[in-house]
Amino acid sequence: MRFSTSTQASGSVRRRLAVGVTATALGLVTALGSGLTTAAGAAEPSTLTGIILGVGANETQRIVSWYSSADTAQSVQLAPTASLVNGEFPANAATFAAMGGANIASSGGFNRHATITGLQEHTAYSYRVGTEGNWSPTYAFKTQDFEGDYDFLFFGDPQIGSSGDVAKDQAGWLDTLDVSLAANPNAELLVSGGDQVETANTESQWNAFLASDKLRQYPWAATIGNHDVGGKAYEQHLFTPNTDRSTSYYNGDPSTRSGGDYWYIYKDVLFIDLNSNSYSNPADGSLGGDAAHIAYVTDVINKHGSEAKYTALVYHHAIYSPASHAKDGDNKVRRVDFPTVFSKLGVDLVLQGHDHSYSRSYEIKNGEKANPAEQPGAADVYPGPGGVIYVTANSASGSKYYDITKPDSSGTSGAGNGADPLNPDNYWYNSVENQEHVRTYVKVQVRADKLVVENVRSGTCAAPNSEVEHGDWCNNTTEGQPVGSIVDKVTVHPYHADGQQLQVNVPSPAPGEFGWTIDGYNGLVDLGTAQERDGAYFEATGKINPILVSDSRRSLAPWSISASVGDFRDADKTFPGSYLGWTPYVLDAGAGAQASGAVPSGYDDQGAGLSISRGLAAAEQGHPRGSAKLGADLDLKIPDSVDKGSYRATLTITALSS
Ligand SMILES: [Fe+2]
Repeated sequence: MRFSTSTQASGSVRRRLAVGVTATALGLVTALGSGLTTAAGAAEPSTLTGIILGVGANETQRIVSWYSSADTAQSVQLAPTASLVNGEFPANAATFAAMGGANIASSGGFNRHATITGLQEHTAYSYRVGTEGNWSPTYAFKTQDFEGDYDFLFFGDPQIGSSGDVAKDQAGWLDTLDVSLAANPNAELLVSGGDQVETANTESQWNAFLASDKLRQYPWAATIGNHDVGGKAYEQHLFTPNTDRSTSYYNGDPSTRSGGDYWYIYKDVLFIDLNSNSYSNPADGSLGGDAAHIAYVTDVINKHGSEAKYTALVYHHAIYSPASHAKDGDNKVRRVDFPTVFSKLGVDLVLQGHDHSYSRSYEIKNGEKANPAEQPGAADVYPGPGGVIYVTANSASGSKYYDITKPDSSGTSGAGNGADPLNPDNYWYNSVENQEHVRTYVKVQVRADKLVVENVRSGTCAAPNSEVEHGDWCNNTTEGQPVGSIVDKVTVHPYHADGQQLQVNVPSPAPGEFGWTIDGYNGLVDLGTAQERDGAYFEATGKINPILVSDSRRSLAPWSISASVGDFRDADKTFPGSYLGWTPYVLDAGAGAQASGAVPSGYDDQGAGLSISRGLAAAEQGHPRGSAKLGADLDLKIPDSVDKGSYRATLTITALSS
């Protein structure tokens, strides 16, 4: 929703603030049992390999995939680690039946996957795969809070085997996983930028990719790259949730190639993962390629966008990148097909791979730099409506780096690769480009009102650094840019197209006008985590972002500012806005401003609280001209019967002047 940014001399003007609150843990008992089955016993021993923990449809799920030498009924067995005795699973451990089939002929054997459901938060789990009497080793993962802030890591193109030296590529990949998770042990997702391996069906490369036990401890959110697409091994190794395997999301025969688009919601982020190998399909005239992806993304966001605060798209072929693939014809097609739709749908962040160099775009709106004044490398970016940030990951394994390439004269919008007027060495769309020939990964911090994106070094010129070990250049000093140092860091303050958050960019009122604005930028009023009081209710407090009022009218006519709040919502959970009360005050006196009276939470007096319009401040006829800054302390009291959640509501502010 777009809001008017003009001031009005008279009448009513409305703008909105978002108010967020997190209730503490309540009623969390969800039985572990959905999907619970008992695996059929099987006499034939099976060799179990390639076990990987994958992301599920949401934070209460995981998907485990593996290979089996025998075609037997198998399952995942799961129990809280605390319930294991001497490594033995308890008798009441849950089992989740596996599905799968025969592998492609080139690898032989069978693939299996099972979806673990009903996970509870703040729990360490142990699991193993197989059958009774023939279990794999035991692995472990943990869950954290199912609401609120979290971090995830994004990895570009491990592409094991691309240097021609699988062992060295594997060593770099393992080291990046070790380094990144040692620095971020509470990261909740490992998101793939695609190209897990160099050659789609080469199992020795898959074995190297899957060698780290980190991939059995942290969920991998797979993305298909151009090197994964040519066979079925990608799908066999990496089963994904909510996956649409329609032909449109393949680039070729689905019986011999991998593909599909999928989505999942992890806490406050809706992730949509696309098979960008399918990008245009003119040969058969069907709804394929980019048109199909756009229809898919539109449908998923329309159905599920309101269930998360942020939308992140993930696909392999970077459309705004700095290096070898920046001028590829196929990417220019996508660069025309995608950005306007992504802007209209309110996408916040796009994570990409394929170009093996790091870049962070400017705020891109409808395929153009949205704000010509945005400076290269800005530490904070404030996207307006339709503003999208595109990130391209560098190599996470060191198996191959692409060098940054130069802009040309093809223009500075759309499919053009022209120079950035503010930084002519860079492409017009990139705020930051970096390539040192050292391994890096991207860390994303998801917060209530911002996304913090960092590109972090996980290696130096020293081994393991496969491409450099094979003789390529390296431009990095261990002293100056050590492991763990940050290449780039940006805090993105997203605009939310549903009107829940507000960007205000109102100019000063012209002489003789009444106007008001919110002091500060697009602020989410975060009430934090509610505290339990007397074992009877929860309370959270905070302050509204101050309101600036300016009145220079000669009429000295009265004005007033009032507000009301809607229901607090978290997906399908809700409680009424009447539980919010406030105490207004004047921060900076002027313009005759007088604070209105306090309104208690409806919890205290069974009243309507702020669910109906309540005054913040007003001035009488004849008041002096000038400006005032208005504030209010917010007091939210909610009964302890309200479900745990991360709730949001909209405070609608109305100004009246005559
Ligand atoms: Fe690629």
